[in-house]
Amino acid sequence: MSKDVDRYAVFGNPIKHSKSPQIHTLFAQQTKQSLHYSAELADIGQFEQAVKAFTNNNGRGLNVTVPFKEDAWRIATKHSARAKRAGAVNTLIIQADGNLYGDTTDGVGLVRDLTQNHNIQIKNEDVLLIGAGGAVRGVLEALLEQQPASLLICNRTKHKALQLATDFSDLGNIQGCGLDEITDSCFDVVINGTSASLKGDLPPLPESVFKPGSCSYDMMYASRATPFMRWSQDNGATEVFDGLGMLVEQAAESFYLWRGVRPETKDIIDTIRAELLSS
Ligand code: ATR
Repeated sequence: MSKDVDRYAVFGNPIKHSKSPQIHTLFAQQTKQSLHYSAELADIGQFEQAVKAFTNNNGRGLNVTVPFKEDAWRIATKHSARAKRAGAVNTLIIQADGNLYGDTTDGVGLVRDLTQNHNIQIKNEDVLLIGAGGAVRGVLEALLEQQPASLLICNRTKHKALQLATDFSDLGNIQGCGLDEITDSCFDVVINGTSASLKGDLPPLPESVFKPGSCSYDMMYASRATPFMRWSQDNGATEVFDGLGMLVEQAAESFYLWRGVRPETKDIIDTIRAELLSS
């Protein structure tokens, strides 16, 4: 690597399994951008120092993952409007004067994957979003911008769903409830934004949750269908997707913020899918 090349990185701990270096390297090749993207393991409590060292070494931008998302929010000198709403930063732009601009690209990533890659309509549809943690908060504004007929957030811990619905109520028709309160309602689009799939768990839902022709989406991805995807297939969802496309789309939005060029994502999603299936 030339010492003058623009550098980008994802910071996390652990970070070994991140797909971001591969995705951004493919974006750079495709768009003929000269840059280097690496995965950087920062020590807990040392995030800010690690970012400073990176900035001094031709760093131009970063992605941030667990457990540094709160640190990223704190060290950003400015935040985009959508980052403020989400209360989260997953992308930092290192500006020429060294200031850090914080943005979040997860919501755009989810909506692009649903509407453009999978041709799923959100406008005028009834949407159920399961979970009320940071991942859900991060996508609410982008989902509501699509103007669903209704958006219901349901969560194991009910008060968190109610709080999120209150926080976003100025942006559309949004309600919150407990997971155990979904009984006979049904939906066009059902999105799992819980971390249950990480542990091989399934949020308990009634079988009647899917309308005919509905779509089920798990924001997690894995080499095989997640428990939520298998359950959706068995209980009437017409189309079932995982979150690999969201991962690549949020990366494409970060790349666009840094470089002003929007990569094509289809071939890259296909490449990573093929690797996952053969792993
Ligand atoms: P993230 O940043 O991934 O959103 P988080 O903020 O810890 O992580 O939120 C995790 C979400 O997954 C929460 O909505 C959590 O429900 P609670 O608020 O009741 O804890 C949800 N979750 C995790 N495991 C779950 C499970 N097995 N069943 C249902 N919901 C689960």
